[in-house]
Amino acid sequence: MKALVVHPGQPNSASLREVPEPDPHLGEILVETLAVGVCGTDREIIAGEYGAAPAEDDYLILGHESLGRVLEAPADGELQPGDLVAGIVRRPDPVPCPSCAVGEWDMCTNEKYTEHGIKGLHGFCAERFRVTTSHAVKLAPNLENVGVLVEPASVVAKAWQHIERIGNRAHWSPSRVLVTGAGPIGLLAALLGVQRGFDVHVLDLAEDGLKPELVEELGATYHHDGIQEACCGADIVVECTGVGRLVYEATQCNAHSGIVCLTGISSGQRAIDVDWAELNRRIVLENDVVFGTVNANREHYELAADALKEANNEWLERLITRRIPIDNWQAILERPVDDVKTVITFD
Ligand code: BGC
Repeated sequence: MKALVVHPGQPNSASLREVPEPDPHLGEILVETLAVGVCGTDREIIAGEYGAAPAEDDYLILGHESLGRVLEAPADGELQPGDLVAGIVRRPDPVPCPSCAVGEWDMCTNEKYTEHGIKGLHGFCAERFRVTTSHAVKLAPNLENVGVLVEPASVVAKAWQHIERIGNRAHWSPSRVLVTGAGPIGLLAALLGVQRGFDVHVLDLAEDGLKPELVEELGATYHHDGIQEACCGADIVVECTGVGRLVYEATQCNAHSGIVCLTGISSGQRAIDVDWAELNRRIVLENDVVFGTVNANREHYELAADALKEANNEWLERLITRRIPIDNWQAILERPVDDVKTVITFD
């Protein structure tokens, strides 16, 4: 079968090639791939900066944002042939650490976890893939065109779950939310904020075009003129860019008892000066919390699938700005202005 593969660590080694059918030991659910989303992590892997092949191979099948249709499944299970499904990215570490032992592999403490398409496990960007029942999430039929957004939405669902858990450490009545970055993660974070009834503000660089439109259509407010005005004492900041300056400023202009949730991974290429003593003073005197979050466990995928099922389907479709047939995969390397989410499709 056809698959998009890379040699991790080798820049620009991506190629489309024939690989063996997925081994049954990888899972009892056989899935026909419909679409695979592309994100910054995939681009880093293609650039040779991240990623690891499975121990038994010298190549890695890319792809961790999946949507497929079940071809084979155990007769007595919840999933049946024809169902729409998304594969969960991370597998628990084999030790397992205390978090992986209870199904919270997103909080793995020893870094021995594996991730489909990223670290030590083949990904989903092949004509077919296999997953275990525990790592396959059934999606509603109305997500046929947009279910590939479940993985990025799961990351955001986890972020919101943890924000709420932290907020509930004391009496808490948040209203204003700032999301920095109007890429897929930022827009999905804004969607989940609007679904919770918050006054959501989104900051990005684009002055016009699709991003401001998508934000306004959500019923949120778009800003492009700096964080001070956009933040304006936000109770919750969901930082989705990884830009160090924004992270720092978010801790300066948020509300007392504010929560700053970091979801973006910084490139590490732009150092900024930080007055740690002043930062410490502010965080302590305001009871602020700044925390990072990555990945998602099964519960978060289910929350994400529910959130997408309830969202406006046309709005979700507009988030997917490019659908690239697998044979034309090189086009994923281009970054047109106004691109939000690029998806690879399979016939
Ligand atoms: C994925 C996460 C993963 C992280 C680090 C992100 O792009 O969405 O599932 O944990 O990369 O590998």
